[in-house]
Amino acid sequence: MYLPPDPPLTLGALSGLTRPGDGAELGREDLFFGSGRAALLAGLKALGIGPGDEVLLPAYLCESVVTPVETVGADIQFYPVSRGLDVDPAAIEALIGPATRAVVLIHYFGFPGPVQEVRALCDRRGIALIEDCAHALYSRLGDRSLGTFGDVAIFSPWKSLPLPDGGLLVLNRPDLKATAPIEGPSTRRTLTRLAYRSLGAFEQAVGWSPRLRLLRRNDLRRQMHIRVSAGSVEMVRGSAAAWRLLRGARRALVVGRRRRHYARLLDACRKLTWAQPLFDSSPDGVCPLGLPLVAENRDHWRDRLLAAGVNVRTYWEDLPPGVDLARFPDAAWLSDRILVLPTHQGLTNGAAGRLARTLQRLDRI
Ligand SMILES: Cc1ncc(COP(=O)(O)O)c(C=O)c1O
Repeated sequence: MYLPPDPPLTLGALSGLTRPGDGAELGREDLFFGSGRAALLAGLKALGIGPGDEVLLPAYLCESVVTPVETVGADIQFYPVSRGLDVDPAAIEALIGPATRAVVLIHYFGFPGPVQEVRALCDRRGIALIEDCAHALYSRLGDRSLGTFGDVAIFSPWKSLPLPDGGLLVLNRPDLKATAPIEGPSTRRTLTRLAYRSLGAFEQAVGWSPRLRLLRRNDLRRQMHIRVSAGSVEMVRGSAAAWRLLRGARRALVVGRRRRHYARLLDACRKLTWAQPLFDSSPDGVCPLGLPLVAENRDHWRDRLLAAGVNVRTYWEDLPPGVDLARFPDAAWLSDRILVLPTHQGLTNGAAGRLARTLQRLDRI
């Protein structure tokens, strides 16, 4: 068995190049960037944030959220995130000072953060809300899509859909202006990335991937993570292929499958002794990026899952150097324990069933 961590590019998904899907209302082409971090950098600039300003970020995050703020020259203050991924708006409010211009709220794994409360406090204190929907493509809170509450919002749709690249900036205030650069990735780079995204389908079909071996090596895994997450922000627009695939995506199918796999795996995870799910349900409207578990001795269980053919992720094994782990012990706790199971639309029901049985088999070892 091999289960890829992200939805692989299949012929069915490729047909989205030529027909509009039901995800079409999302975003504007002139605000389509090559990555979520490029969209975030453009959003910070649209808000006029620069040197001397301060931005509040959650202490549980990855380097690619920090770098855009550093790039515009603003200072960063971190706010706490609990072991259950909860954020306390009062803790955010207590950090607001005269230089604070914006709060970034991450909707972790597609599950809405306390966005209405943080929106209200931003309005009260006259600062901007930046919604980070990198994990939350197609998720809603009540009848509103995530990404409509912030002054600005960003998405990283290549995480949820088989796109070669992509980052969306959404501006929810008429006075804000931004555009993506003219320059996009080269055709060769787009084709290479499309080929890479289709590899998962092949690996899944043959039931084996060389990646699992590499990921079991700590040094290589960390290097790969640093390559993907750290480094400067490349300011390019998204490829034309990614934009067409995004417009052609089948939202209802993606949400339906992700929710179904999530529910099935959650059921299996509830009975585990070696790990516990972070969220004990998926409320209506949530389109889960994956199923986060917390496990003591996480690295051991990751290794067992990789050995069984499940490409699990950790999100984020290494927190950015600016996060003081002694000040934010809960973020450090999560970073040491989290494992994210795939729930994507590229898994068949049979594959989700095999994953559920693998989890239970590990329980008996
Ligand atoms: C919460 C969050 N925000 C933003 C980003 C940046 O997105 P991208 O990788 O498309 O630049 C990521 C990516 O890892 C993320 O996890």
